[in-house]
Amino acid sequence: ANKLKNAKLVLLGDVGTGKSSIVLRFVKGQFVEFQESTIGAAFFAQTLSVNDETIKFEIWDTAGQERYHSLAPMYYRGAAAAIIVYDITNPATFTRAKKWIKELQAQGNSNTIMALAGNKADLLEARKVSSEEAQAYAQENGLFFMETSAKTSTNVNDVFYEIAKRLPQA
Ligand code: GTP
Ligand code: MG
Repeated sequence: ANKLKNAKLVLLGDVGTGKSSIVLRFVKGQFVEFQESTIGAAFFAQTLSVNDETIKFEIWDTAGQERYHSLAPMYYRGAAAAIIVYDITNPATFTRAKKWIKELQAQGNSNTIMALAGNKADLLEARKVSSEEAQAYAQENGLFFMETSAKTSTNVNDVFYEIAKRLPQA
């Protein structure tokens, strides 16, 4: 029988790293060059079938601007999964991602599945964060790591599939 499972998912990460673009790619299969900066947070829902289950992701796409930081706990509290996004061309965003991970480890639900996404992987010539460094950090902290591109769609669905596979049995 096909089981339906709801999963609250939050995206966190610095401004401009591509959180909204990843969601837009996953939910609508689209990409826009001039995505507007998110204000507060935006909500989306998308289902995904894995084996004999249908997962309904309830997605909170948060705003990366620092002035919205205090809102974040409303979105990550009780989340089944979190995708922490940085931009592979911008080391400061990797530093910010590590801070988010520390905050989640300290404040979040210890059962939250965490994914580290190095986005803008299409911009290889501008890379400033090596995949080895990010992979090592993810491994030490019990996250899984993928480099994604919302622009080309590389690994975007895969991040959600990997999360779906890791969700606890209902
Ligand atoms: P905030 O809402 O301000 O926190 O930003 P965000 O993390 O939601 O970033 P957003 O999705 O708005 O993307 C910022 C800019 O990066 C936009 O101009 C996107 O077109 C661009 N962008 C997003 N993902 C990619 C990607 O994978 N590759 C490239 N080349 N550009 C991307
Ligand atoms: Mg956004």
